[in-house]
Amino acid sequence: MSDVILEARNIHKAYRMGAAQVSVLKGVDLKVNAGEFLAVIGASGSGKSTLLHLFGGLDRADQGSVLFQGKDLTRLGMGGLNRFRNRDAGFVFQFYHLLDELNILENVLVPVMAGCSVGAWLSCRAQARIKAQDLLGRMGLKDRLAHKPYQLSGGERQRVAIARALINDPVLLLADEPTGNLDSATGNSILEVFEQLNRDGQTIVMVTHDARIAHQATRTIQLVDGKIRQGLSEPNLS
Ligand SMILES: Nc1ncnc2c1ncn2[C@@H]1O[C@H](COP(=O)(O)OP(=O)(O)O)[C@@H](O)[C@H]1O
Ligand SMILES: [Mg+2]
Repeated sequence: MSDVILEARNIHKAYRMGAAQVSVLKGVDLKVNAGEFLAVIGASGSGKSTLLHLFGGLDRADQGSVLFQGKDLTRLGMGGLNRFRNRDAGFVFQFYHLLDELNILENVLVPVMAGCSVGAWLSCRAQARIKAQDLLGRMGLKDRLAHKPYQLSGGERQRVAIARALINDPVLLLADEPTGNLDSATGNSILEVFEQLNRDGQTIVMVTHDARIAHQATRTIQLVDGKIRQGLSEPNLS
């Protein structure tokens, strides 16, 4: 039997907009196994980002629970939740969210700095820099370390964001429309990076509205009417 890394149990989430309440997730049940590359597809507005934020401990469900390695995220205190977000989960977003004031090496080091005290940072800095350089090298960016994000193309920025997501060796890599801002050739090259990471053992959950790119994943599910539908039965989602 496979190891379940992440489990969603009967998740409900609604947003209040003034007097109106919008129900987005209406009972999501899902298990993510170690070593999977899972794609969650759904139309725009179907709740993909909402779901991913819950998986990453960035938001809380109204009802139901998210278990990471068997532990309920909602029961973690603030320290435990911060550790989970910083160490166990890595995030890649559509718009990269890099810091323009920092060069790309520094951007990749941000999660290491955020995760340790000043004393610990001084002692682990040299090792962290070597690791960040190695990750950026694997992303084809070894000659760009001193460049600022705005000096890079979209695909290169996303590679920096992937390196940043991996710097603390996350158990789970979460990606929200990682190719959504890229042309199709560049998007494909980013997907190849995810595929290679998955072949090397990285567990990945990617959400996307694009059913074509979801075919790269090892399993695909759909978010429809606030619930999970197994398989890929409706090719046209946009
Ligand atoms: N913070 C929020 N406040 C109010 N409504 C929200 C908020 N975030 C998302 N929504 C609404 O919830 C629905 C799902 O959003 P989202 O999870 O971003 O969908 P997707 O990522 O699939 O496009 C949309 O109708 C969106 O407008
Ligand atoms: Mg979204």
